[in-house]
Amino acid sequence: MSKKSVESLSIDALKSVSSRTKEKLKLAGLFLLKDVLIFHPIRLAEIAGFSVETAEKVVEEAIKIIEEHDRKIFGLERASKILVEKKERKFLHTGSKNLDEILGGGYAAGEVTELAGEYRTGKSQACYTAMATAFLPIEEGGLNDGKIGIVLIDSENTFVPSRLEPIFKRFGIEPKEALDMIFVGRPKNAYHQMRMINELVKVLKENNIKLIIVDSLTKLPRADFTGRGELYERQRLILSMIESLRRLVETYDIVGLVTNQVVAMPDVFFGRPIKPIGGHVLAHNVDTRLFLSFVKENIRSIEILDSSRLPPAKTRIQITEAGITDPEK
Ligand SMILES: Nc1ncnc2c1ncn2[C@@H]1O[C@H](COP(=O)(O)OP(=O)(O)O)[C@@H](O)[C@H]1O
Ligand SMILES: [Mg+2]
Repeated sequence: MSKKSVESLSIDALKSVSSRTKEKLKLAGLFLLKDVLIFHPIRLAEIAGFSVETAEKVVEEAIKIIEEHDRKIFGLERASKILVEKKERKFLHTGSKNLDEILGGGYAAGEVTELAGEYRTGKSQACYTAMATAFLPIEEGGLNDGKIGIVLIDSENTFVPSRLEPIFKRFGIEPKEALDMIFVGRPKNAYHQMRMINELVKVLKENNIKLIIVDSLTKLPRADFTGRGELYERQRLILSMIESLRRLVETYDIVGLVTNQVVAMPDVFFGRPIKPIGGHVLAHNVDTRLFLSFVKENIRSIEILDSSRLPPAKTRIQITEAGITDPEK
């Protein structure tokens, strides 16, 4: 069975559940077998509105059908096959050739890239640049395979659509059409943000979403949960959000970008005195962690702090009216 057919396996293929259950899945926006695998049965039960027992049945059968089609042996597949898939990875042009180069081509599709740094280091400007380059055709470093959409979860409330105009102009993107395909979420609190991320699966296919940005992932959890006593709750929320995002971007071959704040480390007197927040749950759950810092004027340094497939590296970018670019020589 070809990859295509597995990709499009519908929940109608389920045999052990009632048509009422399938109806509920569809109403929840879950049309494909791979959609239900994004959720733990407990979450799935919540989202679709049936019992956990039913959700377990659905997930169990979905796994079985997909594995049979993929000809996996107890869920395992050959590394040689994965090698081919990973070689076909798409990259999104960042706006800076320097940055593309250290990232092995740009922000990788199917992965979450984190941009961490202090205030005004260019995290949002990097996101806005990606929102323009995404509309470029694939052969020009974009993600556009016909008609694509972008989701921006703007939890810091800093996004102003007119900021994109000069960036669109630089890349020759038609602003009106593009703005129509950018879907902006403005969560009011951390719970709202988590809910928004969990509901994304319902809008991804319809709008062919190829880029999801959360700017910032950690601001609201940090604001809503203060003090040591609430650390556990805060981390649980961050984990839930980053895990959902990862599964979405992996399942739909989407570029995932999240921004993150930093904290000072009061007990460190040498080396880097600040570090990204979010603790281990975030550090272990993004594919590539970038650290932005101020150099001078509009020049910023970007460093790969940690990546599952890239060596540590560092380069410089410039923030301009037309988005991030390489510094002038
Ligand atoms: N239109 C613009 N033209 C040139 N530089 C800009 C423009 N807008 C913002 N910047 C620069 O970007 C920096 C802020 O970057 P930003 O991405 O908002 O930071 P943060 O990391 O806090 O998200 C500021 O130094 C600002 O001068
Ligand atoms: Mg910002």
